[in-house]
Amino acid sequence: MKINSNYLNLEESYLFSTIARKIEEYQKENKDAKIIRLGIGDVTLPLAEEVIKSLHKAVDDMADKSTFKGYGPEQGYGFLRDAVRDYYGSYGAKLESTEIFISDGAKSDLANILDIFHIDNRVLVPNPVYPVYLDTNIMLGRNVTFIDANMENGFLPLPDESIPADIIYLCSPNNPTGAVYTREALQKWVNYALKCNAVILFDSAYESYIVDKDLPRSIYEIEGAKSCAIEFNSLSKTAGFTGTRLGYTIVPHSLVFEGVSLNKLWLRRQTTKFNGVPYVIQKAAEAVFTEEGQREIRANIEYYRENARIIAETLDSLGVWYTGGKNSPYIWLKAFDGMTSWEFFDYLLREANIVGTPGAGFGANGEGFFRLTAFGNRENTIEAMERLKRLRNRA
Ligand code: MLT
Repeated sequence: MKINSNYLNLEESYLFSTIARKIEEYQKENKDAKIIRLGIGDVTLPLAEEVIKSLHKAVDDMADKSTFKGYGPEQGYGFLRDAVRDYYGSYGAKLESTEIFISDGAKSDLANILDIFHIDNRVLVPNPVYPVYLDTNIMLGRNVTFIDANMENGFLPLPDESIPADIIYLCSPNNPTGAVYTREALQKWVNYALKCNAVILFDSAYESYIVDKDLPRSIYEIEGAKSCAIEFNSLSKTAGFTGTRLGYTIVPHSLVFEGVSLNKLWLRRQTTKFNGVPYVIQKAAEAVFTEEGQREIRANIEYYRENARIIAETLDSLGVWYTGGKNSPYIWLKAFDGMTSWEFFDYLLREANIVGTPGAGFGANGEGFFRLTAFGNRENTIEAMERLKRLRNRA
């Protein structure tokens, strides 16, 4: 037996596992430290009331012979696919229900989608980037080309015609930088993908944080995107489903490569390797898309957006450079005094008991930067910013 030795080319542990271990070690040695976690993008508010009601009702359905459900359709129940279709339609992205595949989250789908692409494809990944895009390609032994995101381009790189690509990863609002592509910029990416016959894997997991009406929330708001892009979305950050697990992937029927429909390939893949998301979770998700559900989740999103505003305001007052925080729950800042990302991580943990995510964990271009999330609770966010101010003024 031989192992998949591509795994040996990965960093020893996944970024957020490394951070969790470091926090645990620090806490063990500093039992009284009141650590504030603004590191991993995990939500802190409970599920909305409508969602909980629907979840309870679905549990009751499972207890009754006449409403009990066994295996469901692998690609998701019609009621939820229709709800997602209508949600996209509400801001101008026209989809068919059969283009929508329900899953247990964007992370798994972003990894699993690689099953339907040839190993020889050239992959283009922005740097810095959500580690899953890169690691899943390394696991398969693919070579990856990076495209630079940096302060000069506002961490929003545009296509470079001289670099050929077959698979392009984009995330907007971006994780980790919080930067958001404009319609014009996304149009450039779509035109480039169409020209080089590439597919764009568009991660829109943070679209619900966009409040600026001019910014696109889905790539399907861009002309030509339905012929070159797959979109991945999730209820994790939109409706607090990080522990409940539900995402959806959109594979338009018009995505045809070498005469083959990607929608058909993905359906074949999912029906073979996946048995669908539990009925009760899909019922909980359905409630997110009702009028009342939308009203309730909006209130939670606004709560996190206010946290982001508080963080951004603090950085403004300290004269610290950052992106994000306005149409995104992430704030990407420059580490103080030329520290490396991990030096800054240790410094903040030790001196202020604040945890963030070192930018270098997202790629070489993240070196010297640091990510804070707005997903903490209000009290902790305010307290963390007070500590940051005290630290800065002491220096
Ligand atoms: C993050 O902190 O980047 C996210 O929580 C990662 C994820 O959604 O998997």
